[in-house]
Amino acid sequence: MSSFNGVPIPSHGQKIEYSNGQYRVPDHPIIPFIEGDGTGRDIWKAASRVFDAAVEKAYHGKRAVAWYEIFAGEKAKARFGTWLPDDSVNAIREFRIAIKGPLTTPVGGGIRSLNVTLRQVLDLYACVRPVKYYSGVPSPVKHPERMNVIIYRENTEDVYAGIEWEQGTPEVARLIEFLNKEMLKGGKKQVRLDSGVGIKPISITGTKRLVRMAIQHALENKLKSVTLVHKGNIQKFTEGAFRKWGYELATEEFRNQVVTERESWIIDNKDKNPSLSVEQNANLIEPGLEFATDEFRQTIHKEVSDCLDSIYATHGKGAWKKKLLINDRIADSIFQQVVTRADEYTVLATPNLNGDYISDACAAQVGGLGIAPGGNIGDGYAIFEATHGTAPKYADKDVINPGSVILSGVMMFRFLGWGEAADLIEHGLERTIEQKKVTYDFERLMEGATKVKTSEFASCLIENMQVPVAAD
Ligand SMILES: NC(=O)c1ccc[n+]([C@@H]2O[C@H](COP(=O)([O-])OP(=O)(O)OC[C@H]3O[C@@H](n4cnc5c(N)ncnc54)[C@H](O)[C@@H]3O)[C@@H](O)[C@H]2O)c1
Repeated sequence: MSSFNGVPIPSHGQKIEYSNGQYRVPDHPIIPFIEGDGTGRDIWKAASRVFDAAVEKAYHGKRAVAWYEIFAGEKAKARFGTWLPDDSVNAIREFRIAIKGPLTTPVGGGIRSLNVTLRQVLDLYACVRPVKYYSGVPSPVKHPERMNVIIYRENTEDVYAGIEWEQGTPEVARLIEFLNKEMLKGGKKQVRLDSGVGIKPISITGTKRLVRMAIQHALENKLKSVTLVHKGNIQKFTEGAFRKWGYELATEEFRNQVVTERESWIIDNKDKNPSLSVEQNANLIEPGLEFATDEFRQTIHKEVSDCLDSIYATHGKGAWKKKLLINDRIADSIFQQVVTRADEYTVLATPNLNGDYISDACAAQVGGLGIAPGGNIGDGYAIFEATHGTAPKYADKDVINPGSVILSGVMMFRFLGWGEAADLIEHGLERTIEQKKVTYDFERLMEGATKVKTSEFASCLIENMQVPVAAD
């Protein structure tokens, strides 16, 4: 192919290659972009200047992005009569990594949603949202700087699988009859006849590949923990299974690099008191065990002896403290803890629905969606994107905050291994906000701030870029 949507491929660029789980990024990678609808136009113009300036400053011309425009949303509809031309999907498939602004979701239905289509076609199974505080950003909490987490949200299943039937239809009547008369026959539970019904599938495949990606990220970046977030106390065979399979994956595939929270207690007890018996150790990790059933007691004893037999040699005598900690938290409790003890968490791995909520809840603490970046990532493909919508009432006014798409670019550069460019952008952004030169959304929340336009914010950010210490 020499063109997509009739636009020639940049002749000075090369393709990003992917094999055996590794990307090979050339010095002039072709990266497709979708500028987005509404304010997407404003923020893309600003962000692309920032990206190019950072890459130039970091690599002095040795590296540069060969940007390649592809079309979706209103611009595609106007030019090609379709909201999402096949060629735009094909170009992302060809070049693997793309970045996009927000797109209008056309009202009226019957139209392919770009996000859903790309997610399905390229199997982008993880929605990744780093949430971190930049000094000076207005925040509703006392210690926003304590938050620095990256959320890996499963992106393909759970109640988002789209398997649901509307109340009052013959289909739902059939399903309810099947449930009540066959699956729930003879029990106390029945589904009310006037219900709509949705199905919540959570699979081993979907869970394990998501948790694997989260753990790999934590190991590569030397982070201290991965927390499995779930509502398994109530939804045992879906959310509870997510927890179980998450631990299974961690201990089967990363045995030597990880310790689970319970293993860490068992080993620490033994470290502190080497003569501790299995029974005594079990009583410490499970207070009140002496009052439990025999069967439960035996299970805990076995857990303790299995743990010590299998990993005390490798993880004992304090070695566990250097391993990646795998723990889990119930969804409602994590919502409290990211407010009260945000610094205890670094990576959260979640099923789809909980991840949707917790991503925005975390983002709200550090400045909101206007500066929250995101990426949809699969094996061999990734699309980075602004997490907010098109904010149409501000379109073409050059006023909106470009932070979200700029920081999505930071994520993308880190993903490509261009950390120096990413650092420059982050430093420039932080400095600009510290100087209180901000767009309207922050200005109205900050005392003594100067309101700047989208384009001016980008210019200030570029001026504020300095070569970070590591790249000196
Ligand atoms: N990823 C996407 O493509 C995406 C995501 C969400 C919504 N949408 C679409 O965007 C359109 C508008 O949706 P909406 O109004 O619900 O949400 P929105 O995020 O576009 O805007 C809601 C409000 O948030 C504020 N806001 C959003 N982004 C901002 C920024 N960068 N800087 C400053 N303020 C900002 C504005 O006050 C805006 O009016 C709809 O068509 C919707 O479907 C697209």
